[in-house]
Amino acid sequence: MIEIRGVRKSFDGTAVLDGLDLDIPRKSVVTVIGPSGSGKSTLLRILDFLERADAGTVDFGDGPIDLTSTKASDIRAVRARIGFVFQNYNLFLNKTALQNVAEPLIYAKGVKPAEARRIAAEQLDRVGLADFADRHPSTLSGGQQQRVGIARAVALNPELLVLDEPTSALDPEMVSGVLEVIKQLGRDGMTMLMVTHEMRFAYEASDKVVFIEHGHVIEQGDPKRIFEHPQQQRTAEFLSSTNNVLVIPAAQ
Ligand SMILES: Nc1ncnc2c1ncn2[C@@H]1O[C@H](COP(=O)(O)OP(=O)(O)O)[C@@H](O)[C@H]1O
Ligand SMILES: [Mg+2]
Repeated sequence: MIEIRGVRKSFDGTAVLDGLDLDIPRKSVVTVIGPSGSGKSTLLRILDFLERADAGTVDFGDGPIDLTSTKASDIRAVRARIGFVFQNYNLFLNKTALQNVAEPLIYAKGVKPAEARRIAAEQLDRVGLADFADRHPSTLSGGQQQRVGIARAVALNPELLVLDEPTSALDPEMVSGVLEVIKQLGRDGMTMLMVTHEMRFAYEASDKVVFIEHGHVIEQGDPKRIFEHPQQQRTAEFLSSTNNVLVIPAAQ
């Protein structure tokens, strides 16, 4: 279990995260949903030290790491365990897909270049891009670029893969290929914490859904229960505002 405890963060005196706790069981997919501005991205960014918490810890099972820390050793310890998939891929445009995946292995993990290229080719194959290894990002679709971003994060073999709205920057026709790759990673046993607006995907791909609002967990549980029988009024209101059709299970 990965345990996140007591995360607090204010911007300009306004609390965005207000003592948030979250458990991520190993080999499970935990999906955070909630209104825009509810602190979802801030939580993920804090976990990767892209943003500094005012309070809070993360524990991968060998003791809590202080998320307010400015010590390089703490930051390295956490970053070595978390892979981050961003909304906008953040690929190096002057490098090929293969180089984008291989180079973090060489520079962050000290993997030998030939081995790094082998791992990168394997991961690109896994996301359906075996034939695109030598292409530069500008010649790839948004969906393909995001799959390179996923391959890059997964190649580092993180204990936890964090994804912040991985499809929200994509054209609609690109979304399903990326979601399918993420679903397969979940089936392969990757531990994931993700934020998505794709409610049907959250329903189908998650082991646990967490609804947050104003930096608090309002309700969490099995996706079937959250989507079909929310216990809290706010969850029900949010779900109906997303206009999703999830209360009706997919036809078989
Ligand atoms: N760097 C920042 N400086 C000031 N306010 C911020 C910053 N990052 C986020 N916020 C504010 O924190 C709140 C939560 O943002 P965010 O975590 O991005 O929400 P979500 O991802 O749920 O839409 C928003 O009101 C946002 O404007
Ligand atoms: Mg966000």
